[in-house]
Amino acid sequence: MSDGTPEQIHLTWGEDPSSSVCISWASPGEAHNPRVIVRDARTDTVVRAAERTYTDGISGQTVFTYHARLDGLEPHTLVEYRVTADNDRNRAHPFSAAVRTAPRGRTAFRWTSYGDLSTPVTGWVLSSAQSRFAVQAVERFEPLFHLLNGDLCYANLNFTAQPEVWADFGRNVQGSAAWRPWMPCPGNHEIEFGNGPLGYASYLTRYSLPGNGTPFPGLWYRFQVGSVLFISLCADDVIYQESGAFLPGPDPLVPAPCTGNAPIEPGTSIYNHGYSGGAQTRWLEETLAKAADDASLDWIVVQMHQDALSSSKYGNGSDKGIREAWLPLFDRYGVDLVLCGHDHDYERSWPVRGCNRDVGRDARSGAVVDTCQPKPVVSAEPPDGRFDTSHGTIHLILGGGGSGSPLRAYGVDAVSGRPQAKVITKRTRQGADALEEAIWSARRDTETGYGIAVFDVDPGASGGKTSITIRYYHALGAERVPTPDYELFETIVLAKNAHQKSVSRRSRP
Ligand SMILES: [Fe+2]
Ligand SMILES: [Fe+2]
Repeated sequence: MSDGTPEQIHLTWGEDPSSSVCISWASPGEAHNPRVIVRDARTDTVVRAAERTYTDGISGQTVFTYHARLDGLEPHTLVEYRVTADNDRNRAHPFSAAVRTAPRGRTAFRWTSYGDLSTPVTGWVLSSAQSRFAVQAVERFEPLFHLLNGDLCYANLNFTAQPEVWADFGRNVQGSAAWRPWMPCPGNHEIEFGNGPLGYASYLTRYSLPGNGTPFPGLWYRFQVGSVLFISLCADDVIYQESGAFLPGPDPLVPAPCTGNAPIEPGTSIYNHGYSGGAQTRWLEETLAKAADDASLDWIVVQMHQDALSSSKYGNGSDKGIREAWLPLFDRYGVDLVLCGHDHDYERSWPVRGCNRDVGRDARSGAVVDTCQPKPVVSAEPPDGRFDTSHGTIHLILGGGGSGSPLRAYGVDAVSGRPQAKVITKRTRQGADALEEAIWSARRDTETGYGIAVFDVDPGASGGKTSITIRYYHALGAERVPTPDYELFETIVLAKNAHQKSVSRRSRP
């Protein structure tokens, strides 16, 4: 008999976080009668789970996952649940946990975020013991939910063990994600050999995410909590850098004979630029246009993996593809905040709007290159400590989840001594081709590459100011010795008039 014991249990929001939650898990073998039991005041309600499987195209391992959606829940209510199956080894005492649904209307709530988490079994490429403490850090701050900004586990760097790396990740994350939704976006390391033409089969099988009404379900989506609209994007679609699955060689990668798959030749890569044929950007514009007419929204927060504004020295840098495809939409519709990962460090931009043309330089020849350099609308800390993001979008790089390659060095112009960014302006595997002055860079953490951002929404009094307080905590010394201690690095506050989002957006050309 197969082993249907639930593991890697994790939650995501359904379409409406105030009334629906998805409970997802995996089991070592096929589960019989997989189900969730919701404990109500008097009765137990059984919700059958849907099975989704995939067979890893390199190892030939079949992965069994299960997804149960709870609908019709009350807002801001604690829901106790159990997860089991007929062939659950723990059937006498099944796994149990509880999740709180989102509040409805203009209410206070907290979320947390980072990207680039990896896994705690340090034998895998890019894994790190810090990833265990990073999950504990989310629990310490007790957010309503967590945003996981791509590069979840780096399974695609461990070609022959992709499902095992995912399992390691899932067991670690369960410590928080079984208690509060973790909302992911795909990063370049979710692109895997052997798992679908785009390489996302593993990611998409394991996660149950809100729909987007396009032929690309699960890769981008939106949800609303309180007065905040969250938009999760897949930047692989628009970036120029080539950073998906890649086989360096010298040997070919030979899939297990049972897969029937041909060997993968050295130099093979999966480059997903433009894969949606513009569907994602059209969806984004429609979503933002609708938000402009929605009086229940005060804030728009975007989550994506790669960076439009990063001045990391040894990381990837800024990608012009995002600047061209999406920053004009963020400007037009007044996106307040963009949360990323990809470069394994912390960087905060000034609020930016519009761009300067033809001010970059080719990294080799020095010739003029148009990097679409974002223009800061503020370039000093405001006297009252509050940024009004109705005038510009703030970008945060939060790539310090727990990967084994943290970064804390940033570009500096050798002559002027001012911040300098690498910019990728064309398809390349060889690193950024251009440089620009990082006039948009406000703060960079040079002490450690590990940290977590905590966001507290204050809806304000009716018709008054609403605010989001952002506190970034970092794990000092974690590069040398992994640590559970996260200390406050900086606090910033975004504040603006409630209800005025749509007015300010419409008044802009
Ligand atoms: Fe990463
Ligand atoms: Fe990445």
